[in-house]
Amino acid sequence: MSRSTADAQKQSPLADLDDWESAHVADESGAPVAREGKKESEFRDYRKNVRAGVREFYRLQHTNQTLDFVLAKKREYLPRQRKVMGVWEAMEFLNTLVDDSDPDTDLSQIEHLMQTAEAIRADGHPRWFILTGLVHDLGKILCLFGEPQWAVVGDTFPVGCAYSEEIVFPEFFADNPDSKVAEYQTPCGIYREGCGLDEVHLCWGHDEYLYHVVKDYLPEEGLAMIRYHSFYAWHRAGAYTHLTNEKDRRLLEWVRKFNPYDLYSKGHTKPDVKALTPFYRDLIAEYFPPQLAW
Ligand SMILES: [Fe+2]
Ligand SMILES: [Fe+2]
Repeated sequence: MSRSTADAQKQSPLADLDDWESAHVADESGAPVAREGKKESEFRDYRKNVRAGVREFYRLQHTNQTLDFVLAKKREYLPRQRKVMGVWEAMEFLNTLVDDSDPDTDLSQIEHLMQTAEAIRADGHPRWFILTGLVHDLGKILCLFGEPQWAVVGDTFPVGCAYSEEIVFPEFFADNPDSKVAEYQTPCGIYREGCGLDEVHLCWGHDEYLYHVVKDYLPEEGLAMIRYHSFYAWHRAGAYTHLTNEKDRRLLEWVRKFNPYDLYSKGHTKPDVKALTPFYRDLIAEYFPPQLAW
């Protein structure tokens, strides 16, 4: 194995890009995962629940996602000069991302997107909500631009202020250089109380990136689902409310409404991608222009 391949593998401890979510899925007994309460026994739950590599993934993410890193990635990606492509093309592009896991039991990226959208559609939700489900993970193409897993997926959390104990594996923040910066370690850090999440920098990943790509085309409820779907410390555990404003409180219920479709639609029967393609191509054309800047 070449040194660069070995280095890349060290940066990519997840066999499947969605394995980090195992910390949030109910355990075998059906009990909800750990982080809703603070009891130690519950905290241990998600550790038992996570698959191999997830712990190392969070060590890397919590160590490397500093405020400076996030600002640098925003300068790099938010001008959106990497690629010009339509939403369908982006889905096909994302599908070239092959996870290093069992292909018989795991869904391709397009299948995960369609399964999420189909579950939303089956519950009779509006068309923009179905479309939000379809596109919500397209930001994962960051992997195809060479970003390591810890800069693409995982729980998101604010940088530039104190870390909440509600974030998975909070002990790994000890190795983040920001933990030594006193200004960043007060509850509000560099932000104002009640400033609103629009003003807050979350760690860099697929959620924030996609939000900027699609922000002119979906209603604000759908945009909040996209931007905050991995911000579990907020939408599930209720942390960081001191940074939120009226708009965030209004949109929180929609972010929560979206979460089960993302997390629990997996594992149901695989969607028939070919048969569903015409419906989803029409839906995409209803909201998005033929080309988007990525
Ligand atoms: Fe996601
Ligand atoms: Fe997802």
